[in-house]
Amino acid sequence: MLTQRFNLKEYLNDQRAFVDAALLAHIERLCPSAHLKPAVIHSVTAGGKRVRPILCLAGCAAVGGDPADALAAACALEMIHTYSLIHDDLPALDNDSLRRGQPTCHVRFGEATAILAGDALLNMAFELLSEACAGAGVDAVPRWHTVLGVVSRAAGCRGMIEGQARDLAFEGVKIDQEALEAMHRLKTGALIQASAHAGAVLGHGSDRQVAHLIRYADRIGLSFQVVDDVLNVKGDPAVTGKSVGSDQARRKNTYPALLGLARAEAYADQLIEQGLQALSIFDNKADPLRAIARYIIDRDH
Ligand code: IPE
Ligand code: IPE
Ligand code: MG
Ligand code: MG
Repeated sequence: MLTQRFNLKEYLNDQRAFVDAALLAHIERLCPSAHLKPAVIHSVTAGGKRVRPILCLAGCAAVGGDPADALAAACALEMIHTYSLIHDDLPALDNDSLRRGQPTCHVRFGEATAILAGDALLNMAFELLSEACAGAGVDAVPRWHTVLGVVSRAAGCRGMIEGQARDLAFEGVKIDQEALEAMHRLKTGALIQASAHAGAVLGHGSDRQVAHLIRYADRIGLSFQVVDDVLNVKGDPAVTGKSVGSDQARRKNTYPALLGLARAEAYADQLIEQGLQALSIFDNKADPLRAIARYIIDRDH
């Protein structure tokens, strides 16, 4: 059970500040380019929720680890996520002009710079992970190797990139719920799952703890994209910071399109309950993860 004392708003603000300070310092250091840094900083600081890095830190804490040990991984995950948004918004993909309440990267800086800013963030993420691995003590090196594998697989063509490819290939094509679920797991679930997984590994989680966190993150990761689809129908662009109605305009396959809004929302709730059940083996150190699960379905942006 979630203890009454836990204050999610305060927790999220603290964790965002913790991540953002490190993230910006890493970007300053790893991206000296006068051509690219303004575009990278524009997209990174536009106001993301930082769900993936916070899941990484919370996964680490849930298994009894020190979140500081997972901070480099948390920053790398946000770099990968922000790159994916820059590319997702490009004219060749979703052609969106609003992101995180700001003009999208290509609208503000031009398409070529946006493509390269995304490339820069992706490569910086892996540079950061490899630095962390190289700088880790001998006993921590195997954990960083595991994290490199988990993150690169989730970000690549057995994860997010394949999900994005299917999302585009299926525009205007009717697919069934099984295919939709597989696409959502790849496109969004994989990186969310990798976030909790990486945190748990860096926190010295046992195999059993890691397996439970993977299951938790699988359920909340899928739910996260279902809610994203719902917000694309009924959200307020002034609050979501991105366009609304664009999925229908592009004839995207989404849960509301397949099931209707009410059933899509009920499905998101059901997934969150399953995610919470996977946390039953943990004590109150997993309270942030419990609160994040509820936040995913209650959020308005
Ligand atoms: C949006 O992700 C894109 C999806 C994968 C659903 P977020 O909702 O986490 O976006 P930010 O980081 O808060 O902008
Ligand atoms: C974004 O999916 C997924 C990735 C960037 C990998 P969507 O295209 O559905 O997300 P939004 O609604 O643009 O944020
Ligand atoms: Mg998309
Ligand atoms: Mg999009």
